[in-house]
Amino acid sequence: MPMVHALPDLPYDLDALEPHISRETLACHHGEHHSAYVKKLNGLIQNTGFREQPLKDIVKHATGDIFNNAAQAWNHEFYWNCLSPQGGGEPVAAIAEAIQRDFRSFEQFREEFTQAAMRLFGSGWSWLVLNEEDKLNIMTTTNADTPLREGLTPLLACDVWEHAYHLDYRNRRQDYLEAFWSVVNWNFASRQLLAIRPPEPLVASNQRSSMHGAIRTYGRAG
Ligand code: FE2
Repeated sequence: MPMVHALPDLPYDLDALEPHISRETLACHHGEHHSAYVKKLNGLIQNTGFREQPLKDIVKHATGDIFNNAAQAWNHEFYWNCLSPQGGGEPVAAIAEAIQRDFRSFEQFREEFTQAAMRLFGSGWSWLVLNEEDKLNIMTTTNADTPLREGLTPLLACDVWEHAYHLDYRNRRQDYLEAFWSVVNWNFASRQLLAIRPPEPLVASNQRSSMHGAIRTYGRAG
């Protein structure tokens, strides 16, 4: 059976991110923009070799309109999970430790991520990714482009297309980025990291005393 891609439900109610991101924005962004990418993709892959492939594989291998719509479908599903009504505040669990290691502080990371998103010309995305050397990097991509295409592992995404914020903030991207930090889902980012870099196995209690600070603590909160 040919695979038909479905629009995934938002992981929260339309008004759950208010006052930072409004019901009106989510209804339009998810129900119109994201929905349109999925619908167009399903039309475009008919009678092509992509029609039975999982979305992620299409993103990795397609070009042109099929790539654009597949990547936007994948990017948006990832982005919805990067937001949460219980989000905001400082990083937690594994991602907190990794940010401290690679950016020295959360404040430094937040500043660099925000500046990268502000500098992005036109439409695109700002990302926190894990690179080939197992280090965290900030990167931006234009239009539909995505770190998956570079073989990098996305941990966090911020949609910087104007459709993500113009209803709430007009052209004030900086205000939208402040809103993003108020609802950012650190648990999701931590889970992405743990999925590819699982915690080391627990050591027996009689060995722990000799390891001093070497034991890492990872959270698994939902
Ligand atoms: Fe978007």
